Amino acid sequence: MNLNKNKIRAVYPGSFDPVTNGHICIAQRAAEIFDEVIVAILMNTQKDPSFSVEERQQMTEEALVDINNVQVCAFSGLLVNFMQSLGSKVIIRGLRAMSDFEYEFQMALMNRQLAPDIETFFIVTEPQYSYLSSSAVKNVFQFGGDISSMVPDCVRNRMKNRIHEYPNQIIKNRTKPFE
Ligand code: PNS
Repeated sequence: MNLNKNKIRAVYPGSFDPVTNGHICIAQRAAEIFDEVIVAILMNTQKDPSFSVEERQQMTEEALVDINNVQVCAFSGLLVNFMQSLGSKVIIRGLRAMSDFEYEFQMALMNRQLAPDIETFFIVTEPQYSYLSSSAVKNVFQFGGDISSMVPDCVRNRMKNRIHEYPNQIIKNRTKPFE
């Protein structure tokens, strides 16, 4: 039996606007299974993000700095094209609730249609993060709620600075509860 396998590089894509403790948990768990995990932040998201791609990348890097086999980068265009450029065949997505499923299912099938050799792996959230989303965090923060258990300190600090600069900007994307 030959147990010598090639290393597997997985890509965990998303908007990460901003990264939450739920995202961090998924990245950590993926990093325990796959040899390398690339957290890939979409630049040209249609969601009109609250944070620039540079800010999102910086916060995510800071939040994941202790995990050796995780790297953070930004991408634009089709996810499968980006993955092919990295030689990756594994997409990681987190699943929180049934409400996520339809969107995730559609995206997984679309990606499969575009690139049949790329597989989507779902990691089910820890129950403590099942209610958590970037948009909910921004909403709670906007109205003075405590988000310290929801995001890493680097994100909370950035949000504190941001709310002074742009008080009306932080919840631009709160039309959908789970993003
Ligand atoms: O955190 P999000 O916003 O739910 O992540 C969505 C993301 C970035 C994974 C998805 O929108 C994406 O992959 N966009 C890139 C464009 C693309 O490849 N579209 C085809 C698959 S639907």
